[in-house]
Amino acid sequence: MKHYKITTVTVNPALDKSTHLRGLVPEQKIRCDAPRYDAGGGGINVSKAIARLNGESLALFTAGGPTGEMIKELLLKEGIKVDPITVQNWTRESFVAVDDNTNSQYRFGFPGAALSELEKEMVLEKVKAIATDFLVLSGSLNEGLPTDFYKQIAEIAKKSNIKVIVDTSGESLQKVLETNVYLIKPNVGELAKLVGVDRLEMEEVNDAAKKIIAQGSAEIIVVSLGPQGAALITKDSYDYVPAPNVAKKSTVGAGDSMVGGMVWALSQNKSLAEVLRWGVACGSAATMNEGTQLFKIEDANRLFEWLKSK
Ligand SMILES: Nc1ncnc2c1ncn2[C@@H]1O[C@H](COP(=O)(O)OP(=O)(O)OP(=O)(O)O)[C@@H](O)[C@H]1O
Ligand SMILES: [Mg+2]
Repeated sequence: MKHYKITTVTVNPALDKSTHLRGLVPEQKIRCDAPRYDAGGGGINVSKAIARLNGESLALFTAGGPTGEMIKELLLKEGIKVDPITVQNWTRESFVAVDDNTNSQYRFGFPGAALSELEKEMVLEKVKAIATDFLVLSGSLNEGLPTDFYKQIAEIAKKSNIKVIVDTSGESLQKVLETNVYLIKPNVGELAKLVGVDRLEMEEVNDAAKKIIAQGSAEIIVVSLGPQGAALITKDSYDYVPAPNVAKKSTVGAGDSMVGGMVWALSQNKSLAEVLRWGVACGSAATMNEGTQLFKIEDANRLFEWLKSK
C-alpha cells in the first residue's frame, strides 16, 4: 500500500446539497436555485482543506449507493486521493438552504445509515493495512456504531506508530481518550465537558487541558475558541493566538479547516507554534466564505503572515 503522510477517516460522510431561495414559507411551493453538491463529513473536509494548501492526503470513507459514488467523484475532481469502503446502505445527504430575503441559513442534517457488523470490520481491517504518519479521525459516528469505535481505530493505528488526531465530541471523544492519542482539538465547550464542568473561562483552559494530558489521554490539545482564536497546550507549554478580525460570512467548516491546516503543518515538520497559527489562519479564513465552502489559500497565507507576529 502506498504511504501517505496524512490519512483521514470519515465513517459517516454526507453528500451536502445546498441552495438559495427567497422566502421560507409554509404550504406554498418554494422555488429553489439549482443545487450545489459538496462532499462532506469531518475527515473529508479535512482532506479538502489539506488540498487547498496544496498538500496531499488519502481520504478513507464509507460509501454507499449513488450518494457515496457522488462523494467519490467530487473528491477526485478536487484531486484528492480516495479509498472508499463500499457499504450497503446509501450514504446520507445533508441539506442547507439560504433564504436570500433574510440572509438566514437553515441546515438540515440526517442520521447516517447503519453499518453492518461486516462493514465495521472492513473499516477496522482497512485501518490495519494503512501506511501513514498522521491519521485524522473526525466527525460524528453513524447510528448504531459503538461510541468506542474511534477508540478501536486509534488503538489499531497506535500499534503501527501512527500519530492519531481526533476531532469529535461527546461520548466518542470521551472514549477515545481512554487511549493516548497525539492531538485533539476540542472547542472550549467540548473541553469543559471533558473535565466535567458546564463552562470554562479563558484563564481556566490551560489547567483543564493540562489535566487531560496528565491523565495520559493526549500529547497535544488545541482548544479552539471561535472568534477568540485558539490555544495549544502540551505537558509543559501553553501558547495562545487571537483570531484575526475577518469579514465573517459563515463559520461552517471552520473547525475542519483548522484541523486541516494543523495536520498539514505537522506533516511539513513545522514547529508547534506554527502548527497553531496555521490552524487559526485556516479556521478564520474559512469563516470568510459562504456556507460549506472552506477557505482560499490566499486568505490562509495572508492570515498566517499576520499571526506569525502574534
Ligand atoms: N467569528 C470568527 N472570526 C474569526 N475566526 C473564527 C470565528 N469563528 C471561528 N473562527 C476560527 O475557526 C477556528 C475554529 O472555530 P471554533 O472554535 O468555532 O471551532 P468548532 O466549534 O470546532 O467549529 P465547528 O462548528 O466547525 O466544529 C477558531 O479557532 C478561529 O480561528
Ligand atoms: Mg468542531
